[in-house]
Amino acid sequence: MSGKVQVLESGKVRLIPLAAEHEAEFLRLANIPEINQRVNKPFPYTLTHFAEQLGSLQKSKNYFVWMIEHEGSIIGVINTADPRDVHLFQGGYWIDPEHWGKGIASAAVRLVKEFLFKECGAVRVQALVEPDNLASIRVMEKCGYDREGLLKKFYSSASRGLVDVLMYAVVR
Ligand SMILES: CC(C)(COP(=O)(O)OP(=O)(O)OC[C@H]1O[C@@H](n2cnc3c(N)ncnc32)[C@H](O)[C@@H]1OP(=O)(O)O)[C@@H](O)C(=O)NCCC(=O)NCCS
Repeated sequence: MSGKVQVLESGKVRLIPLAAEHEAEFLRLANIPEINQRVNKPFPYTLTHFAEQLGSLQKSKNYFVWMIEHEGSIIGVINTADPRDVHLFQGGYWIDPEHWGKGIASAAVRLVKEFLFKECGAVRVQALVEPDNLASIRVMEKCGYDREGLLKKFYSSASRGLVDVLMYAVVR
């Protein structure tokens, strides 16, 4: 059973469910090169892509996307989904490079992890991270995810074909 999408808050961040009003901020973030190349979005990421994403979000039961607000500004995105409805969630996150290194991604990942286990009946929450993405690896470690192993040529990157990824997960 899936929890109801809601605002999640900690001292550092406020996670606001994605809505049509976030179009401009979402497009700005998705088109920042340091973000776009890591999160498998088409480049350029357009209004049409955003409309498709919002449409699929509205149709899906176990799919959550939040905009990350920090000190009153929207500066990132975090998402998670359980498309097979089997209590296994996988997600991603990205932060405006101007705000890297302030603990914002870690705060958001912790909030979502707690929401999934407490409100959504999650049994497993996982993320795939490229082995050279040291900042994201650190986020996983700080948030208590276990490194389960290297999956070779496992993830289909829009621009680079099949790439190696590390599997990180936390289980109930
Ligand atoms: C990965 C990302 C979300 C991290 O966001 P963030 O808000 O800076 O993350 P945090 O501040 O919570 O934590 C980052 C940690 O990585 C560390 N770090 C950053 N760059 C690093 C590097 N090159 N080598 C080792 N550690 C690094 C930071 O020092 C920090 O650890 P610390 O708190 O122990 O000092 C951000 O870099 C990003 O948006 N990258 C592009 C998109 C992306 O890669 N998304 C994840 C896809 S799996």
